[in-house]
Amino acid sequence: MNEYLPGLAGVPATQSNISDIDGENGILFYRGYPIEELAEHSSFEETSRLLLDGRLPVAKELADFTTQLKKNRYIKFHTRGMMKSLPATGHPMEMLQTVVASLGMFYPGSDCLTGSDACEDLDYIHNTTVKIIARLPCIVAMWEHIRNGYDPINPRSDLSYAENFLYMLTGREPDPLLARIMDVCLILHAEHTINASTFAVLVNASTLANPYTVMAAAIGALSGPLHGGANQRVLEMLEKIGTPEKVEEYVDRKLANKEVIWGMGHREYKTKDPRATILQGLMDKLMADRGGDINPMFEVAKAVEVVCEDRLAKKGVYANVDFYSGLLYSEMGIPADQFTTIFAIARSAGWLAHWREQLSDNRIFRPTQVYTGEPRRAYVPISQR
Ligand code: COA
Repeated sequence: MNEYLPGLAGVPATQSNISDIDGENGILFYRGYPIEELAEHSSFEETSRLLLDGRLPVAKELADFTTQLKKNRYIKFHTRGMMKSLPATGHPMEMLQTVVASLGMFYPGSDCLTGSDACEDLDYIHNTTVKIIARLPCIVAMWEHIRNGYDPINPRSDLSYAENFLYMLTGREPDPLLARIMDVCLILHAEHTINASTFAVLVNASTLANPYTVMAAAIGALSGPLHGGANQRVLEMLEKIGTPEKVEEYVDRKLANKEVIWGMGHREYKTKDPRATILQGLMDKLMADRGGDINPMFEVAKAVEVVCEDRLAKKGVYANVDFYSGLLYSEMGIPADQFTTIFAIARSAGWLAHWREQLSDNRIFRPTQVYTGEPRRAYVPISQR
């Protein structure tokens, strides 16, 4: 194939059996299970095992995995010291990328990946997977305290993954409904076929780089506003709009200026992102639970969606996962610049599933290009130019 397709739109980059999107009908499956069923019945711990192993775990497997995740919640004090020396004004995604990349120095062992069978050391693969999934939320929560000049809060082993994250982040006993909403948010963000960050995983994994480097590359790709960074911008946009009455004028002005409406549109979905529908349902549930006393930006968001549907549905542009997630996180007291780190925490499960899949049948990525430069020419000495 010699045709260049910008953004590689529609070009298969790999074969994968991890997740699948039916973009016409707005359906997302993890390992064959519809996302709605997982959001209703599963936990992030169970969904992670599903993504990694390809099947739902039996009770003992899930209990063992949950215990391993709990045992891996502690962060070395050297890492903590390094975090304290980072600028408090830096973006949390930059912090996360830096810290995750550094873990490769603390946890060596990736040499086993260069054996004749790249995936032969299953213990290394499994232990590294657990280390990364377990540590990410702890690093993110610790940063919230460190950047504000306080010591981080120690993890608790009596709490679930989502509960412990909220506890370490806020220092408060997690509210059961908010903890369950966080758990569902983590499930919804855990995997999404081959997007920009997962493609970064495949490319880096294919060189047999250490898995912390692979994760750091993915975190970097996710941080961009056209990918995971959109959730932060959605809340900023809603706050800028202010009230539902101002939505129409704002959207029309943006579209007239050829600017994007954050949280709208998706390369794969030509209908509303099913994850946005689930998140909107959670927002309604929270609203009912709180007797309507939630972030007034929710009403602004609903108005933006109505106006955008009128203006953009003809282009197949509807609300995506980032549209409602930030509103929910803001109800948990989480600052907007931490929204994308939560996306990274969740997506670590999917990224690691793709890392393992790539290793199991690896060939280094080496695409080609369409050269558009000068034809061959002779070097001109500087005195003759
Ligand atoms: N606001 C306004 N118009 C949008 C839009 C948005 N959020 N998303 C897409 N469109 C328009 C494009 O301008 C284009 O219009 P045109 O055909 O008149 O030129 C058309 O819809 C097709 O969009 P395109 O840019 O080709 O889609 P893409 O697949 O290349 O890009 C995104 C997908 C996600 C990058 C894009 O929709 C976007 O920038 N969304 C906002 C950022 C965001 O929420 N990202 C999170 C994704 S989960």
